[in-house]
Amino acid sequence: MKRTEINKAIQEAKKAIKNINFCLPHFAYWEIEEWRKRKEEIDRIKEVMLGWDVTDFGSDDFKHVGAVLFTIRNGSLYNPGIGVPYCEKVIVFNDEHKQVIPLHFHNNKTEDIINRGNGIMEIELFNATRDGKVDYNSQVEVYMDGIKYIVEPGQIIEITPGNSISLTPRLYHRFGVKRGKGNVVVGEVSKINDDYTDNVFANEQKRFSYIEENEPAICPLCNEYDKL
Ligand SMILES: [Fe+2]
Repeated sequence: MKRTEINKAIQEAKKAIKNINFCLPHFAYWEIEEWRKRKEEIDRIKEVMLGWDVTDFGSDDFKHVGAVLFTIRNGSLYNPGIGVPYCEKVIVFNDEHKQVIPLHFHNNKTEDIINRGNGIMEIELFNATRDGKVDYNSQVEVYMDGIKYIVEPGQIIEITPGNSISLTPRLYHRFGVKRGKGNVVVGEVSKINDDYTDNVFANEQKRFSYIEENEPAICPLCNEYDKL
């Protein structure tokens, strides 16, 4: 991805989040100089990877495959003394090109995906086979806001603002925008998040993108704090 694309996506995500009257913590709005000035204070932010995360999952097609994520709180899978035993994120999808996060499951993380507003999101689910492949045949049992549903594999499930779906470990999911009135804002409340070890993609996918530095970054991404 180009840095211009990342900077623009973060600015647009901030607008979309403001549009639903959701407020992020101060550090979401720090500019690069502020980050550099406070370098000595951000150990915890760095350890549990709070902050901005813009990725195209290595697709080189951010318009269609990718999202802007902001991790508000998190802990560490390997050091329970660090952070909190849960995670909260905001995820913003570009509605114009119906961005999606590609098909994946988590070995450890249970997550609630919540439509926070600005449009309708859609999600497809598949069970995983014993060897971790996509099971295209078996029906999926899933809870949405406390109610149990049985859905067909790959069936499009629409989630409207305020509603959510609970995704358990080893449940394959692909989700994004159905239609938006501006970029769609999604919340994620989950167990501790570890993007280096806990994502299993159905197809070869990179969790973090290679970045072409064609302009200065407006702020670091959550995997770039060492560069400050
Ligand atoms: Fe997920």
